[in-house]
Amino acid sequence: MCGIIAYTGAEPATPILVSGLRTLEYRGYDSAGIGVQNGSCRITVTRALGVDQLAEAVAGGTSNDGVEPTVGIAHTRWATHGGVTISNAHPHTSADGRVAVVHNGIVENYLDLRVELSDAGYRFGSETDSEVIAHLIARCLKSGESLASAVRGAAGRIRGASSFVATSADEPGVIVGVRLGNAGGIVVGIGDGFHLLASDVLAILPHTDRVIYLRSGEVVTISSAAAGFTDLNGATLERRPFKTGRSFEAAAKGEHPHFMAKEIAEQPEAASSAMRRRVDFENGTVDLPEVPYSDDEIRSFDRIIVTGMGTSLHAGMYGAQMIEALTGIPTQAENASEFRYRSTSLNDRTLVISVTQSGETVDTLAAMESASAAGAKQIALVEAEDTQATLMADGTLYLRAGQEIGVASTKTMICSLTVLYQLAVYLGIRRGALSPDRARELVSDLSRLPGLIAEMIDDGGDCRRLAVERLKDRRHLLYLGRGALQPMAMEGALKMKEIAYIHAEGYAAGEMKHGAIALISEDMPTIALVPQGALYDKMVGNINEVKARGGEVIALATRGDEVMPGLADEVLWLPEAPEWIVPLLSLVPMQQLAYHTSVALGLDPDKPRNLAKSVTVE
Ligand code: F6R
Repeated sequence: MCGIIAYTGAEPATPILVSGLRTLEYRGYDSAGIGVQNGSCRITVTRALGVDQLAEAVAGGTSNDGVEPTVGIAHTRWATHGGVTISNAHPHTSADGRVAVVHNGIVENYLDLRVELSDAGYRFGSETDSEVIAHLIARCLKSGESLASAVRGAAGRIRGASSFVATSADEPGVIVGVRLGNAGGIVVGIGDGFHLLASDVLAILPHTDRVIYLRSGEVVTISSAAAGFTDLNGATLERRPFKTGRSFEAAAKGEHPHFMAKEIAEQPEAASSAMRRRVDFENGTVDLPEVPYSDDEIRSFDRIIVTGMGTSLHAGMYGAQMIEALTGIPTQAENASEFRYRSTSLNDRTLVISVTQSGETVDTLAAMESASAAGAKQIALVEAEDTQATLMADGTLYLRAGQEIGVASTKTMICSLTVLYQLAVYLGIRRGALSPDRARELVSDLSRLPGLIAEMIDDGGDCRRLAVERLKDRRHLLYLGRGALQPMAMEGALKMKEIAYIHAEGYAAGEMKHGAIALISEDMPTIALVPQGALYDKMVGNINEVKARGGEVIALATRGDEVMPGLADEVLWLPEAPEWIVPLLSLVPMQQLAYHTSVALGLDPDKPRNLAKSVTVE
């Protein structure tokens, strides 16, 4: 949440910062701002309600002195404390305007600090928690400290997970960044004669691919010539850059109107990539060397928890069902934000599997922390490289979806499910709970996944029509599923809520009679996941109940189903597919329904209101 970019070098800083903000906009787009050191050692700050407005405001240059600034910091905001206003936009400055700060995270003790600083004569210009940092730094600088030392001093006073970056007019060319806890990270870009800091490596890639990820409790000081690292006490740290595996081209929309459309279309390739070198299709096995446990350890597990938030939690719910079915180990999916505060009797025979595409979600990281404290074993499923989640886990299974920019997760969800499928088979084999024949069957089923998804994407036209004819003018929708399709129903509803702003409930179909059925009317369509399988008849029963009450039904059914066309108002066809593969396929039409509904409503599916891609605050 919130995007930070900073540059120091010889090139004009403003265009580099603005284009970095455009890349980081998915992290927050409430407002944006830029602060550059100009020729006469002052900091010129420009702020606006969005990156486009900011770009316009700085188009004429940000220097008053005819000298193009080459050092600056910038920010795109996802509001936490204080409304969406220019005065709450970052950078925040000290009263004398000589220090500017951009911040990601929450200063939990900001009210106390605000009182303390106000009593000491510091005047506040915003309602944010972040502004205290600028004043804390200015106070340390007054006593003659260097900017790096002042940043460490400020870092020592604030509570909560935060990353911030500061620059001071008194140290031309210098920018200092710090990471505290599990708030969004800071990546350092190492160039020839320049350095950058950013919340995401993508904003650095147009300039250099040599990077260092800042760890919690580390401080970095960059100038055009050097990048130096210390801990919070000022002790020097050795950090070496490495060549990132990320590519900037992946972050372009290409021929697609939105990133979400592109990312839906990329799912066949993403699913293949999540299996590459892990699944042995010839011998029908799965090998996951990233899971660093011996057979004895795997046999000792007596409980598995799969945790995550939002879409990743829905993936985890599917994973928990499959893992329990294939290993016989009691397995539950847990909402990380609840799990972290609940008393859970974990121990070293518990395996915790955390699903987090960003590797940054603060609740998931906190759940991982409490699992570590209890001595549990930990595996993380992550898309982003070198994140805090990876540092905490015993092993990381990378999703390999490729950069996802659309705020609504699509291809990372498919990859999370694909990897959880593999993990279930792998643990089943290693535990001796899965016969080689059944494992071969499951692997062969998995091999069909990319082709089946591709088929579904080609069939997308009906979703556009249904979005326009049946969904866009509705205020409420119900999504029903059973078994492993229940979390998919919840995911379908989440997609519709987040990008089309239509209230949607994902429900276990069997639960409907216990309350939600009261809502059924001709104004509330139901999307029913009713593929062939063990629970088909039960779902048909639920659909009949909806129809009997005048409800409209859009069924997702298996091609060849002769009952559904006579029963449901509309049918979206799923290809015939094995039990554990069908849930993944069901996602595709639900993603497309949400996408086309959002577009039909004139909304931007890539940038839903109030949301950001990485949720680094509680
Ligand atoms: C919804 C969505 C979110 C994320 C959730 C967790 O489309 O993307 O619900 O799934 O914020 O994010 P990660 O996976 O980064 O931990």
